[in-house]
Amino acid sequence: MNLLVTGGSGFIGSNFIRYLLTETDFNGRIINVDCLTYAGNPENLSDIEAHFSDRYVFVKEDICHQEEMAKIFDYYSIDVICHFAAESHVDRSIAAPDAFVQTNIFGTYTLLELARKRMHHIKRFHHISTDEVYGSLGKSGYFSETSPYQPTSPYSASKAASDHLVRAYFHTYGLPVTLSNCSNNYGPYQFPEKLIPLMILNALAGKPLPVYGDGRNIRDWLYVRDHSAALWTILENGEIGETYNIGGNCELENIRLVEQICEIIDNLETLQFNTPRKDLITFVTDRPGHDRRYAIDASKIKADLKWAPKTPIEQGLRETIGWYINNQEWVNRVISGEYRSWIEQHYNF
Ligand code: NAD
Ligand code: TYD
Repeated sequence: MNLLVTGGSGFIGSNFIRYLLTETDFNGRIINVDCLTYAGNPENLSDIEAHFSDRYVFVKEDICHQEEMAKIFDYYSIDVICHFAAESHVDRSIAAPDAFVQTNIFGTYTLLELARKRMHHIKRFHHISTDEVYGSLGKSGYFSETSPYQPTSPYSASKAASDHLVRAYFHTYGLPVTLSNCSNNYGPYQFPEKLIPLMILNALAGKPLPVYGDGRNIRDWLYVRDHSAALWTILENGEIGETYNIGGNCELENIRLVEQICEIIDNLETLQFNTPRKDLITFVTDRPGHDRRYAIDASKIKADLKWAPKTPIEQGLRETIGWYINNQEWVNRVISGEYRSWIEQHYNF
């Protein structure tokens, strides 16, 4: 297998590549194509690059560049695609939607066209998407694979458009696609603009913990290693043309999650003056159009492919917090220039 992973230097892509090469019987070659936006960091895989130099290749390229991507498809004889590359942060999509339309929609279209033109050779195009395409839930109910699409942010709307394109290429041209829509991921190597790593780093530094609105929005948390296992299961055994919802079976209000992070860190490190970190929680202006609740019904992937999430949130949070504490150099390099200006502009502190 010559597996093209797009966006493999980002959070989930780099965890997936690491998982594939170190924890599965995958014996092919991975070609990671990433243009290294602010969210892409080749350092995430520098050890993998050194250990698997014959089976892992990194190419810096933009998935929207059709001619350059065509050369990559042909040179590496790509036969399976696992498409992660995207602009992925809702708040940034509200501030500046352009890049979301470009990468998430046009970039996906570009890859689909390249795959369609090599149909005889392509075995699988797997598209990674989000539960946010289904919109917001009320107090009850779950997103299933047949829930209607009701995206509400520029991010989720651009992901919804890309999902529709992928399905259209299956129905119209017979491209062998699979799709997965997952809930909120967390774990090592996540860029600290997202809730969990932002709260961990601020809590460790004794900085304010900015919770949007009343803090009672609900997300379904999925440990990134469990997600990687689900993706490998789909690549191996998923049925062509099918969509699989992947969830953590772990609904939590944001405020409860932040309090849990505070408690774990308090038990590891005493804050100066001995104040509990919960005191750092600061309610800030809500995100415009903030979806209230996401929750995944993952019964299809469980029944069809025997996958279920394994990591309890307490364990996943402890491992993630430990990772950020032990990887201060990674953190210091990541939270430089562009990151600082985003935090200043978005939170005003
Ligand atoms: P991320 O922002 O950490 O990483 C995205 C990667 O894509 C980065 O390395 C970036 O450099 C790269 N990239 C962006 N534009 C590109 C382009 N034009 N060409 C090439 N590379 C480009 O995102 P993530 O959290 O790892 O998410 C990966 C995928 O999973 C995305 O498709 C996202 O929509 C989806 N997803 C993420 C979550 C989550 O909780 N993080 C949840 C559901 C779905
Ligand atoms: P986020 O990690 O941005 O993921 P998504 O918007 O894709 O679900 O946010 C998770 C939840 O945390 C969401 O309800 C928004 C909230 N949130 C805060 O309360 N404060 C913050 O600083 C951030 C980044 C998010």
